[in-house]
Amino acid sequence: MKFDKPATANAIDRGLVIGRSIDRIDGPAKVTGTARYAYERNEVARNVAYGWIVGAAIATGRIVQIDTKAAAAAPGVVAIVTYMNAGKLGQAKPHASRMLAGPEVQHYDQAVALVVADTFEQARDAAKLVRVDYAPRKGRFDLAAEKGNAIKKDGEFGVADTASGDFAGAFSRAAVKLDETYTTPDHSHAMMEPHATIAAWSGDKLMLWTSNQMIAWAVRDTAETLLIPASSIQVSSPFIGGGFGAKLWIRSDAILAALGARAARRPVKVALSRPLIANNTVHRPATIQRVRIGARSDGRIDAIAHESWSGDLPGGKTEDATFVTRLLYAGEHRMTAQRLAVLDLPEGNAMRAPGEAPGSMALEVAMDELAEKLDIDPVRLRIINDVQYDPEKGLSRPFTSRKLVECLTVGAQRFGWDKRNRKPAQVRDGRWLVGMGMAAALRGNPVMDSAARVGVDAKGVVTVETDMTDIGTGSYTIIAQTAAETMGVPLAQVRVKLGDSTFPVSAGSGGQWGANSSTAGVYAACMTLRQTLAKKTGFDADEARFESGRIRVGNRSVTLAQAAGPDGVVVEDKVEFGDLQKRFAHASFGAHFVEVGVDAMTGETRVRRMAGVFAAGRILNPKSARNQVIGGMTMGVGAALMEELVVDKRHGYFVNHDLAEYQIPVHADIPSQDVMFLDELDDKSSPMKAKGVGELGICGAGAAVANAIYNATGIRVRDYPITLDKLLPGLRSLA
Ligand code: MOS
Repeated sequence: MKFDKPATANAIDRGLVIGRSIDRIDGPAKVTGTARYAYERNEVARNVAYGWIVGAAIATGRIVQIDTKAAAAAPGVVAIVTYMNAGKLGQAKPHASRMLAGPEVQHYDQAVALVVADTFEQARDAAKLVRVDYAPRKGRFDLAAEKGNAIKKDGEFGVADTASGDFAGAFSRAAVKLDETYTTPDHSHAMMEPHATIAAWSGDKLMLWTSNQMIAWAVRDTAETLLIPASSIQVSSPFIGGGFGAKLWIRSDAILAALGARAARRPVKVALSRPLIANNTVHRPATIQRVRIGARSDGRIDAIAHESWSGDLPGGKTEDATFVTRLLYAGEHRMTAQRLAVLDLPEGNAMRAPGEAPGSMALEVAMDELAEKLDIDPVRLRIINDVQYDPEKGLSRPFTSRKLVECLTVGAQRFGWDKRNRKPAQVRDGRWLVGMGMAAALRGNPVMDSAARVGVDAKGVVTVETDMTDIGTGSYTIIAQTAAETMGVPLAQVRVKLGDSTFPVSAGSGGQWGANSSTAGVYAACMTLRQTLAKKTGFDADEARFESGRIRVGNRSVTLAQAAGPDGVVVEDKVEFGDLQKRFAHASFGAHFVEVGVDAMTGETRVRRMAGVFAAGRILNPKSARNQVIGGMTMGVGAALMEELVVDKRHGYFVNHDLAEYQIPVHADIPSQDVMFLDELDDKSSPMKAKGVGELGICGAGAAVANAIYNATGIRVRDYPITLDKLLPGLRSLA
């Protein structure tokens, strides 16, 4: 099915199953522990050996010598893999870092060896006996120090620089000007399930049971790394305990498990220990962002500029922090620029709402600061500068749908924004300074081609197979809803099988394109199945109605089971997206409102309430969509108040590499979250008329917290996270 024209009325519009808050169909399996995650899948292979990864003890330099003799002689050890015996390895393009170091070391905790033993404890013990001698080199670990050497590099999802009009001139003439710099630190995905893989070879065929968001990419990158044909690799990843981008691409667990299994001649399982993850794998890169806005005294923006600097290993990627500014507000004269510095820290890459999440933490505070200078309410300032078309391209590129103003006004009302005291540091509640802040939310709405196989068996059971993944998001459920809706059967009559490379290639879970794209693919396959069944029954496919488990034309009807016949019917189809993504601007929108209390004596910040209103096209399942949004809002609180990978700038590694020291919000940190979705159908986004919500909730949430802290205290902290040490000096002068 080509999707190159806006959707018209279709089977999804019935809304009998789609659009309902249906409990997760995989919920019982998860809460009873019968949903097996990668490392637990003991049923898939016999005689499994355990691998333990040894990480590099330097950040950059060379391995001079690896002595594995003592480790090899340790009890239970069956194989040790290093670059000396691993054979030639290729480098898969999406990775700035290699999965196995040697002789060069690119970053701290890059894998230098895998020790394989009969038991987990034996592998871990023996790993301590591997002796590695290094010749370290002086590395570059400080983004601020390397900023001047940063280069311009276009990215996969957009160019480094954009400009229209005359920013410099318009900014210099502006009545009111804002020019501030904001910094965001490196972040860790900190998903619950560590990276883990069981690998087994049978002849030259490799099987990987792993935890991965993008099955087809995993096959491709494994093939490119191990230099074997993609057709000899099968990847299975039916359940995933969170990813947030950390599992978009294969990591060392998969490659080293495969190498270990080859060396040990038996299946090998490898999980990354929690302390290894931060430095061995991938993180959201730190940014330095300068925002300049020039406005008229009535609040209208004439000039807006956003520049961002981030770092990565050589060959790596830019954090697209300015993308939000390219689409969010009006302004005739504008520019954005992104620069990439070389750092010898672990690989930087996508983490939930890459670009918009850290970008909003700068832009949406800048807007708050501008509102204060203008003495205009921050909600009103955003409404004044709303724009219904891509502000860089002009009227020729309208948004497919954009209900930002509605989100702002509905949210302000639900939250009680009118009770906010515009003057900071005025409201006390005992020892607490109380403040309110808000921010807009924008996240791009990309789509990806997505295929599915759908069948009906002799009992009338509908089975969907696609390599789409469910990373905790609810894919199983919304895919079942899509099939039930399109085929006109109850949900209980649908089976969904996901996450296996033997299934048709889907959009996968990334960039908040998963739900919209993968259900569109399932819809396409179901429509083809309808055609096939109607034809088989002798019905006119366009006239046939699929409802209550039957196919009807006039007063003739058959059950799906009868139509399928004793052998059943299976078809495959996909959605292929045309140029609507180019012709229109695509994004989902929202507005965040936050109340915080800041302890006047200690600087401790507690979030008291949060409200978010979102417009993201058709909401396929309000319950799972709300789960996504409150998760995102929670990560926004983390980004504002606590999350930071602390860089040791002498030795070049992230110091706080575990969940004890890398702070993320826990339940006690998060108050009631009021979430509302506005009614919206986006006919240019997909046949589902849905848009992405998976990454929308985090965008702007951190800025809303930061703005609330300012309103509470009058202290503006532009260096995240806003920890109490940054508030204390200002609080002392208040007291
Ligand atoms: Mo997302 S950061 O593309 O998993």
